[in-house]
Amino acid sequence: TTTEDNDLIDYWSYFLKGIEYTLLITAISVVIGFILGTLLALMRLSDNKIAHAISVAYIEFIRGTPLMVQVMFVYFGIGAVVQSLPALVAGIIATSLNSGAYIAEIIRSGIDSIEKGQTEAARSLGLTKNQTYRYVVIPQALKNIWPALGNEFITLIKESSIVSIIGVTDLMYQTQLVQSATYKGVAPLFVTMIIYFIMTFSLSKVLGHFERKMNHD
Ligand code: ARG
Repeated sequence: TTTEDNDLIDYWSYFLKGIEYTLLITAISVVIGFILGTLLALMRLSDNKIAHAISVAYIEFIRGTPLMVQVMFVYFGIGAVVQSLPALVAGIIATSLNSGAYIAEIIRSGIDSIEKGQTEAARSLGLTKNQTYRYVVIPQALKNIWPALGNEFITLIKESSIVSIIGVTDLMYQTQLVQSATYKGVAPLFVTMIIYFIMTFSLSKVLGHFERKMNHD
């Protein structure tokens, strides 16, 4: 066999495809996770005991079980009911459901961090409970939530690598393809580590930039 078949650079398109899938899964999961997380946080903070209990149970259960098991459970579980469920869809569902629980806690602590005096002042000015949330608490909470939400995005870039076990062609899965094709064990992994690092490091720089901007006004 010739060395040309073994040059890692010849496999750049494998890595590129993996990067695309990893970013796609992460971006969609953060958006769905944010919507789900907002819902769960509001349920957890609500006076409705049933809504509160469901939210607490969900958050604790998701955080208390491995993402790897959740990914496989969604893939084989939903797959048993829905014929030919694409692994990509299962992967996105699992990471979104997972992220929702973590984001719920981020949002809850963001809301908790708003002084009680803010709510009391708004209420004494005649705002209803919902209006107080909507116009006073949430806008201020968002400012506190932003950095933690950015961290969740970074976490998901890394943790989404677990969807490779169900065959989603993310960066980690593509790396394994390159390993088999080149008979190289370490070099593809090294390239992949660098790629993950570039993604997380540049994202954290971008987020830090916005954070500083927000704190200036
Ligand atoms: N390795 C962790 C687990 O298996 C990942 C949890 C995902 N974390 C997150 N912030 N969404 O539970």
